[in-house]
Amino acid sequence: MKAKILVTGGAGYIGSHTTVELQNAGYEVVILDNLSNSNAEVIDGIERITGIRPAFEKMDMQDKEALRRLFEKHKGIKGVINFAASKAVGESVKKPLLYYRNNLVTMLNLLDLMPEYGVEALVFSSSCTVYGQPDVLPVDETAPIKPALSPYGNTKQICEEIITDTIHAGAPFKSILLRYFNPIGAHPSAEIGELPLGTPQNLLPYITQTAIGVREQLSVFGDDYDTPDGSCIRDYIYVVDLAKAHVKAIERMLENKSQDNVEIFNLGTGKGVSVLELIHTFEEATGVKLRYKIAGRREGDITQVWADPRKANTVLGWKAETSLADTLKSAWNWQLHLREKGIM
Ligand code: NAD
Ligand code: UFG
Repeated sequence: MKAKILVTGGAGYIGSHTTVELQNAGYEVVILDNLSNSNAEVIDGIERITGIRPAFEKMDMQDKEALRRLFEKHKGIKGVINFAASKAVGESVKKPLLYYRNNLVTMLNLLDLMPEYGVEALVFSSSCTVYGQPDVLPVDETAPIKPALSPYGNTKQICEEIITDTIHAGAPFKSILLRYFNPIGAHPSAEIGELPLGTPQNLLPYITQTAIGVREQLSVFGDDYDTPDGSCIRDYIYVVDLAKAHVKAIERMLENKSQDNVEIFNLGTGKGVSVLELIHTFEEATGVKLRYKIAGRREGDITQVWADPRKANTVLGWKAETSLADTLKSAWNWQLHLREKGIM
């Protein structure tokens, strides 16, 4: 058995897929989650996939004493992957204090306690949102950080700065900041996947829910952008590929391969895909026709962004491998699984 890793927010979408990959790679995982945006049954799904039930602590990471008790109970945690956060961009505009409190207090508690318990490595879930609308595409890690468009985006920038300042001040651990592009899809087993509460804000869950008839019609937010087909362009990355990058990041720090105590990597495919292209690829890959209409632009959307993932490819030794068609099929299989179980 390799090192013990704490996965905060491990019952969530990306955390659950990452737990599977960590366990497959031989790591021992402790999950911490308050289930504010997830469900305890996810732990069963992880066990069905890997044959191993990760330790699970239901607790709020804003509670520093509860976090201390976790470190006391699970002695010897060597690395932390910090997924726990609130993540709905629109909600963050309406409830900024909730977002600043949850995303910053949890991070501060962790940074306070990590040195006391000898934790050597921290992976942080950041986002390409820190680049805003980049001046140069594809965007690499040296691109300037743009003013955040939402309190949520701001918490990502602030957390990156807090971690960097803490390590520069001599904290005894390393960190890797992973800037995700647009994670989509579900585990090929359809045992775990994305389960948005209420009406989905993100494109792919809206597509699969429209395809299965939960939503009547998909709205394409704008076809008058300055892109080849007029719709916005993103870099959609398969969640299982993304999960594997976290294993690489933990390995890199625990095996002392980092070139710097804080490193940053873009996690994307390197390919931009428009909303209309995504819709058509979904239809081809699944054989399901989608009802959609062109609607007005969504406030705050940037026109186009895709990653230059070369640093992750060469330095981290990670590459996105799964085709968009296979990724979209996995999302559709997950939606069919939810229907079978009567969840949606
Ligand atoms: P998610 O909501 O599915 O997972 C986050 C988990 O954290 C949830 O299970 C939630 O219950 C838990 N949580 C939240 N606050 C907590 C607290 N105070 N204490 C304990 N648990 C808490 O989200 P996700 O899509 O898996 O995202 C994981 C991380 O990646 C987040 O930090 C998110 O901001 C970041 N990220 C996500 C995307 C994306 O598009 N999904 C893109 C870039 C970055
Ligand atoms: N879109 C539609 N119709 C919908 C939903 C989305 O046309 O019903 C369009 C959006 O306008 C955008 C694209 O689909 O052009 C992707 O939208 P998402 O909401 O799925 O993703 P975003 O790129 O807007 O943002 C997501 C996360 C952010 C994160 C960012 C980068 O929501 O938290 O990716 O990681 F910061």
